[in-house]
Amino acid sequence: MAPPHKRDNSAAVRGGTDTAIVIGVAAAAAGLIALIISLVAGGAVTAQVIPGLPDAGSLTRWGLPIAKTTMDFAGALTVGLLLLAAFLLPADKGVLGSAAVGYVRAASWSALVWAAAAAATLVFQLSDLLGLPPGEVLGDQLTSYAGSVRQGIGLMFVILLATAVALFGRTAASGAGAIGLLAAALAGVVPPALTGHSASSGAHELAVTGLALHVLAISVWVGGLAAVTFHGLRAKADHAAVAARRFSTAAVWAWAGVAIGGAASAISRLYQPADLFTTSYGLIMVAKTVLFVALGAIGWWHRRATVPRLEESGGRRLFVRLAGVEIVLMSVTMGLAGALSRTAPPPPLDGTVDPVAELLGFPMPPPMTAQTLLTLWRPDLFFILAVALLGGLYAAGVVRLIRRGDRWPWIRVAAWAAGLVSMAAVLLSGVSTYAMVLFSTHMVQHMILSMLTPILLVLGAPVTLALRALKPAKRRGDRGPREWLNAFLQSRFSRVVTHPAVATPLFVLSPYAVYFTPLFAALMNDHLGHLVMSVHFLLSGFLFYWIMVGVDPAPRKIPYLLRIVLLLVVMGVHAFFGITIMMQSAPLAMEYYGQFDVPWSDGVAEDQYAGGGVAWAIGELPTLLVMITLLYQWFGDEERTERRRERHSRRGGSDDADMDDYNAYLQELDRRSRQQN
Ligand code: HEM
Repeated sequence: MAPPHKRDNSAAVRGGTDTAIVIGVAAAAAGLIALIISLVAGGAVTAQVIPGLPDAGSLTRWGLPIAKTTMDFAGALTVGLLLLAAFLLPADKGVLGSAAVGYVRAASWSALVWAAAAAATLVFQLSDLLGLPPGEVLGDQLTSYAGSVRQGIGLMFVILLATAVALFGRTAASGAGAIGLLAAALAGVVPPALTGHSASSGAHELAVTGLALHVLAISVWVGGLAAVTFHGLRAKADHAAVAARRFSTAAVWAWAGVAIGGAASAISRLYQPADLFTTSYGLIMVAKTVLFVALGAIGWWHRRATVPRLEESGGRRLFVRLAGVEIVLMSVTMGLAGALSRTAPPPPLDGTVDPVAELLGFPMPPPMTAQTLLTLWRPDLFFILAVALLGGLYAAGVVRLIRRGDRWPWIRVAAWAAGLVSMAAVLLSGVSTYAMVLFSTHMVQHMILSMLTPILLVLGAPVTLALRALKPAKRRGDRGPREWLNAFLQSRFSRVVTHPAVATPLFVLSPYAVYFTPLFAALMNDHLGHLVMSVHFLLSGFLFYWIMVGVDPAPRKIPYLLRIVLLLVVMGVHAFFGITIMMQSAPLAMEYYGQFDVPWSDGVAEDQYAGGGVAWAIGELPTLLVMITLLYQWFGDEERTERRRERHSRRGGSDDADMDDYNAYLQELDRRSRQQN
């Protein structure tokens, strides 16, 4: 029988479903009205009749922003429902409760709406592009648009991922299943952000990552609040307070993500502050910012007043009321955002278009000097956030241990910090500017990212720190970050990727697969491609050195001798990689390097020859460092085993401690089997 105050609370939200419908309808209406007003005010739906150019017609002019905004809403709701099921509601040993399963099912319906809205957006987008009515673009044009044009491909990804969530959401009932669907849904909200205005604006590093972070954070914030509020309105809302409290923490991070992503998107599209007040694009953004601040204030009040009182009588009603207002305001902002994405951003100040700056995201840098390497920094938002998060979380873990009176070796802190400094040095400083125009500097960047940074990060023992610093879940059987990390370390996926037969080729053969195929030019030609390449080199290096010299608890322990052999193989294959580049008869990736001329360099071929030398030279030094570390660890291990043997034999055991242990284990097995018989 539920404790008395629970009964009171369910009474407080009588007619919960009606309230949910009212909030839903009010939010949809407010969002639509905001969209229509800002589209008209911004001139995005006024017919642009240019003599000789076809016009898609008003159905497309209105249909496109409405379909796109519906797609954003349905995507956010799908993410919110899956977030509630996978993380906000307590589970039992990875099995979802009945309410959570219900939300996975509900997500499969919203995913269906999402897929349909994305399909409509695809048709309207092509109709708008070709200036033809929607009915006339449904043939081959649509398939080729969906298969070969960036925006079309982006929307196809949304349709495929949303459909997958809709299908698998019909049957998924485990925590891991819900997390898999949530990951697919989060991946599904990003593609349009990578192919809209952000793809064509300058400062790619800010625009692309900024908008991706923006829409990801919005889907967690808006979708999560809608799902938690709906759960709070239900009469039988088990764990409503737990879900709201957990969401409240996630909402703080999401709010920060919306702010950082929104600001980065704004900076990469506006050329001067005046654009904010003199252009329709700027004014819509100002309106969004005002609403954003108001939403932040409401969120703060939730954390201070409503969430802490959720278990009190009437507490849920208070929370739901305020959340209802919040959801309506969020919808208005989403409506404004839909119009913003259809409103032309202000043009560049001098109106001239620099093709090199269009390609690189910045103008051709001057000749490389120590000073330009130290001053021409790249504001790559993805790596700024990565370094800040990795540094911040590690520091928080160490502080928690020290506060608890535990010790953490300073050498590990130093290794981790050095790893992050090397990461920032090659991904944010002038090195990353010149790495875009000079192959040799690119090779310095790549070698440090894949051969040096990972060794330092691995010696920081991040997994051990996380397992020691993270608190166990409050509820028995429930899974918090610590339990999920443990489950991940013991998963089949971890066992497979940490197998030397997987990690080694991934590490040592990737460069061959990238540089000696058209892949390299394709990745260099696209900001996202370049980002994925850097992340791949960093992660494959981390994985390889984690099984080589990692001090963390890994799924398997590889014998020292095998590690030494593997390292020698890697050294050889890597040296051969550098030499192969130097031996190239024709320069690599001319599809990329041929698009611009570096007036102060000796030429592409000479630069690539130098790049091959860099790969060969830089590659060997870290491997030597690892060899020394490995021998030191091996020696230390042998010593420890010896000491343990001595201790064992001093306690009257035989010389072979392992054998004794094994015999004790067999005896135990025998004792148990006798008991059973
Ligand atoms: C700090 C305040 C904010 C700023 C500066 C900001 C700025 C931006 C910018 C520049 C874009 C790109 C538009 C384009 O494609 O050109 C954008 C997109 C978007 N914003 Fe915001 N935003 C802010 C807050 C919000 C909030 C609070 C929400 C929702 C609750 C929101 C929802 C969206 C959505 C859904 C998009 C994607 C639109 C689309 O491409 O369909 N934004 N925002």
